[in-house]
Amino acid sequence: MASQQDLIAEYETTGTLSALPLGHFIDGVFSQPSHNRTMESFDPGKGAAFARFTAGTSEDVDAAVVSSRKAFETVWRDKAPVERARILTKTAELILANLDLLAVVESLDSGKPLQEALGDVRGAARTFEYYAGACDKLQGDSFPLAGDYIGYSIHEPVGVTAHIIPWNFPISTAARGFAPALAAGCTVVAKPAEQTPFTALLLAKILSDAGLPDGVCNVVTGTGVDTGAPLTQHPGVDHITFTGSVQTGKAVMKAAADDVTRVVLELGGKSPVVVLADCDKEQALNGIMGAIFENAGQICSAGSRLVIEKSIHVEFVSALVKRTKALKIGHGLSQPELGPVNSAEHLEKIAGFIDRAKDRGAKIAVGGNVTTDPATGKGWFFEPTIVDAVPAKDELSQEEIFGPVLTVQVADDADHALELANDCQYGLVAGIYTSNFAKAHQLARKIDAGQIYINEYFAGGIEVPFGGNKKSGFGREKGIEGLKSYCKTKSIAAKIS
Ligand code: NAI
Ligand code: MG
Repeated sequence: MASQQDLIAEYETTGTLSALPLGHFIDGVFSQPSHNRTMESFDPGKGAAFARFTAGTSEDVDAAVVSSRKAFETVWRDKAPVERARILTKTAELILANLDLLAVVESLDSGKPLQEALGDVRGAARTFEYYAGACDKLQGDSFPLAGDYIGYSIHEPVGVTAHIIPWNFPISTAARGFAPALAAGCTVVAKPAEQTPFTALLLAKILSDAGLPDGVCNVVTGTGVDTGAPLTQHPGVDHITFTGSVQTGKAVMKAAADDVTRVVLELGGKSPVVVLADCDKEQALNGIMGAIFENAGQICSAGSRLVIEKSIHVEFVSALVKRTKALKIGHGLSQPELGPVNSAEHLEKIAGFIDRAKDRGAKIAVGGNVTTDPATGKGWFFEPTIVDAVPAKDELSQEEIFGPVLTVQVADDADHALELANDCQYGLVAGIYTSNFAKAHQLARKIDAGQIYINEYFAGGIEVPFGGNKKSGFGREKGIEGLKSYCKTKSIAAKIS
């Protein structure tokens, strides 16, 4: 198997990678699409196309759903849980055996630093390992009825599940949806983002190599309009897991309403990191740098608002600025501290936020400009940026920018910090830095968010349920809770006399 170095050398010499698949993955093979249309995928670090992939249609979506329906009814729904577990365990092993390929492809296609892509791929393997262990523990309940009755429940798989995947965490989001769905006995039709189609296809092939029967996991590539929308409207789909923007999330929810299809929505965020004066400053500085600059801030759960107690504001922000200025920017494959953003359109959107803020007289403490890879003068980069002392109602405190831009909000005290933290349409996650145990947990209870990190941003793993409140969506992924989305409880009561 080609090593990281071989793959990078191949890309440098040929401008592409020979291991990239073409076609949809339907019925266990890379299949011919209904029309021979392809589109380009870009390397954001160079701002140039590096490969083509299939631009699917509603006919391809239909073929995938039909295949998944058949596989659900004939081979997967009733497969012994232990056998499902063995396939998922093998999948985790094969993901790790293909670590270098998956990580290089992920880095190239999304722009993210290679070391982060390696972490994502290891995380995907861990997700399959975790849910492999859950397959044979989906126990029902029994109910205390009168002596001549018996009552119990079973968890049935919901059926064919659609997974609409964004470009910021392509393999992680795919794994986070596929693994619990498959563990529960559901089949999968996935539609990766058109900016990052490749790792979902590679993952489907790995599942097949691990022994997953044909049709249990299908992947169709193409645009949101041509393939995402038909998938969410398809009457053969029983459940939709969507991760992406609020706007598209609403469209998905409306499409789902027509057939009363189940949905889980993981949408945007504008997550606060509350830093109180009594915190461990070093710990908080490290946490915030990762919270906003990892994946160039393109994380739904990024810590994009620093809510800082007034007494340490000036000193803390100047320490952050110093660290931010030192960040090494570069192409994802060069393992920089900050990579490019995913597309030219997205770069323009980020720059628009900052240009408008400058017009309003915002205090840009560091950064604030579009830039390029210093090594090549190419690529879609935005300088790591901190905007200081932003009012609560400002667009920078309210809207998701999804880039390397930290908004600083100054709080008088812990109560004011809580008020600022909750003054937002989103409620995905929140961070808290304080050495006061009681205060940390009081805040954790009062902040309106689906997940709270105390003294380490992004603490926790696949074991911990994840999902949003307010406009960040609803439903939970990860953890045992994440399995419930893919199950429907059936209660059975019988008279036995
Ligand atoms: P998007 O929500 O439009 O795209 C996400 C996925 O939905 C992609 O696979 C896309 O092809 C698909 N899609 C698009 N239109 C669809 C439709 N009508 N029906 C079904 N599927 C459809 O997000 P986009 O345009 O890539 O990014 C826009 C903004 O969304 C970003 O700037 C960011 O603020 C936010 N975003 C949030 C993410 C998160 O993790 N919560 C991930 C990606 C984007
Ligand atoms: Mg790409």
